[in-house]
Amino acid sequence: MPAPSNQSFCASSIIGTGSYMPEKVLTNDELSKTVDTNDEWITTRTGIKERRIAAEDQATSDMASEAARRAMTAAGVAPEDIQLIIVATVTPDMFFPSTACFVQKKIGAVNAVCFDISAACSGFLYALQVARHFINTGNRTTALVIGAEKLSSLVNWKDRNTCVLFGDGAGAVVIRRADENADAPGRVLSTVMGSDGNLADLLKVPGGGSFCPITPENVESRPNTIHMEGRETFKHAVTRMLEAAQQALEMAGLTAADVSLVIPHQANARIITAIAERLNLPNEKVFMNLDKYGNTSAATIPVALDEANKAGRLKRGDVILLVAFGGGFTWASSVVRW
Ligand code: UT7
Repeated sequence: MPAPSNQSFCASSIIGTGSYMPEKVLTNDELSKTVDTNDEWITTRTGIKERRIAAEDQATSDMASEAARRAMTAAGVAPEDIQLIIVATVTPDMFFPSTACFVQKKIGAVNAVCFDISAACSGFLYALQVARHFINTGNRTTALVIGAEKLSSLVNWKDRNTCVLFGDGAGAVVIRRADENADAPGRVLSTVMGSDGNLADLLKVPGGGSFCPITPENVESRPNTIHMEGRETFKHAVTRMLEAAQQALEMAGLTAADVSLVIPHQANARIITAIAERLNLPNEKVFMNLDKYGNTSAATIPVALDEANKAGRLKRGDVILLVAFGGGFTWASSVVRW
């Protein structure tokens, strides 16, 4: 494991959360009518019961914009106050312009600088860290950090190994500079990030980019859909998420015993349980909503954070541990004092 990529402690605080999940629900039973699977396998191997599917005419930026509006309302900030928008996504509306630019247009954040981050399921925590750097260096005071995905557009609905796992949705936070000495609520205490491109082939969408453009000859083999070596990915996810969580806690001067709630990436309930056991965290300190949404990649952590917030599970002063793992491979963890 490489050394933590950031040692700085900047005073950035999460001042509002929001999320948006599409209305359409796709249950395990419905999926089992179109592909050779069943509710029992999906539930016991993953913990997923259903997932949300965006409407055909609903782009990632539409979901991201709604999550952003809700986060801004919660934070009490106007669109004009937003100086930076970062969207973490692997399902952008288009190759370019960035999805963040479409969000800017849709929410009217005329004063923002906007760009996307591609770090798969770790994307939201990567984006949070980038936004912190902007705030720490004094360039910006108020930022929208969004994780949003329309993974239904990247799924091969004939591949039972992957199609049962993923779903659509969006989550957002507003972060704002806080006085470094002040005890501001929602303060991000630490973030660690890591990547290992040597393992890029284990989880990827190989086609549709410059490496393998879609042609009439290859379109049938669906290279522009998610390909994953599930077992290998599983093993790395447990190891890296655990290491990252421990490093982020150490960087914040805390231990797992101080954690009030861990919000892990929601890929598989067995991964989450394995990490929680190794951190010695009881079930009530572990947030899970993958039964309802499956794996929504970069949207997972901000959606879960917003749901935990709305459910009253985040109390002032609580230590919240966020930890993610995804394609790349990439991983990241943040500690937040609520
Ligand atoms: O978000 C980024 C990070 N992602 C992850 O961390 C995901 C990590 N991986 C996983 O969560 C798990 O590996 C999976 C859920 C993807 C797969 O679970 P598994 O326990 O590793 O199963 P497996 O891939 O080893 O497959 C076991 C069996 C196979 O059959 P055979 O070869 O034993 O006859 C599969 O063909 O289960 C079969 N299988 C299914 N059966 C019914 C695979 N998918 C399905 C399915 N329904 N949907």
